[in-house]
Amino acid sequence: HKLGILLSGKGSNFMAIHRAIADGRIQGAEIAVVISNKPGAGGLEAARSLGLTALAIPQEGKGPEAREAHDTRMIAALTDHGVDLVCLAGYMRIITPAFVEAFPSRILNIHPSLLPAFPGLDAQRQALEYGTKVAGCTVHFVDEIVDHGVIVLQSTVPVLDEDTGDTLAARILEQEHLAYPEAISRVLSGRYHVVGRRYLLKS
Ligand code: GRF
Repeated sequence: HKLGILLSGKGSNFMAIHRAIADGRIQGAEIAVVISNKPGAGGLEAARSLGLTALAIPQEGKGPEAREAHDTRMIAALTDHGVDLVCLAGYMRIITPAFVEAFPSRILNIHPSLLPAFPGLDAQRQALEYGTKVAGCTVHFVDEIVDHGVIVLQSTVPVLDEDTGDTLAARILEQEHLAYPEAISRVLSGRYHVVGRRYLLKS
C-alpha cells in the first residue's frame, strides 16, 4: 500500500506512522508522499530529513474556486504518487466533496476528542471547559461532513483536576501516536466491514 500523508503542523502523528512502518506495526505499506498546504510546516521538514518525498501545495487565492483548485492539485499529487490511502494528520483544512469522492472510503483522519463530542477546532480545550472526566482521540474515515465519518478506533485518557489545555492535549497526543498506526494497520488489513455507521471486524 502507498500512504499519502497530509499535514499542516509539526507532524508528530506523521512521525508516529513512519516509526510504526519502520518497526513493523504497520505492514505492507510505505509513505509515498507527504504534502502540506503550509510550506513552513515542521512536518514537511521532518519528512525531507527522513528522505521522503515532501511537497508544499499552498492554496492560491481565496474563495470556493480557489479551494476547489487547491483540492484538484492535491488529488493530482496523490494520484501521481500512486497513493491508495490518504491519512490526514493535523491537516487543518476542510476537504471538498470532490476530494472525498476521489478516494472513496480511503481517507482517514485523527481528531483529538471522543467524537461525536467536540468536533472542530480546539477539541481538547472544549472537553476541558465542558468539564468531561474522560477525553481522548478518534480515528475515523472522512466523509463530506467535518469530523463525522465512520469511526475506526477511539482511545480514552482521564481528565485530571490539575489539567490545563496543554497538559490534556499532550496526554491525548500520546494516545494519538498509538491509535493512528493501529487504525491504519486495521484498515489496510481489509478484515472489516462497515454496517451502517459501525466499523466491524470480519471473523
Ligand atoms: C493533533 O492533535 C491532531 O489530532 C490534530 O492536530 C494535531 C496535529 O499534531 N488534528 P501533529 O502535527 O501530528 O503533531
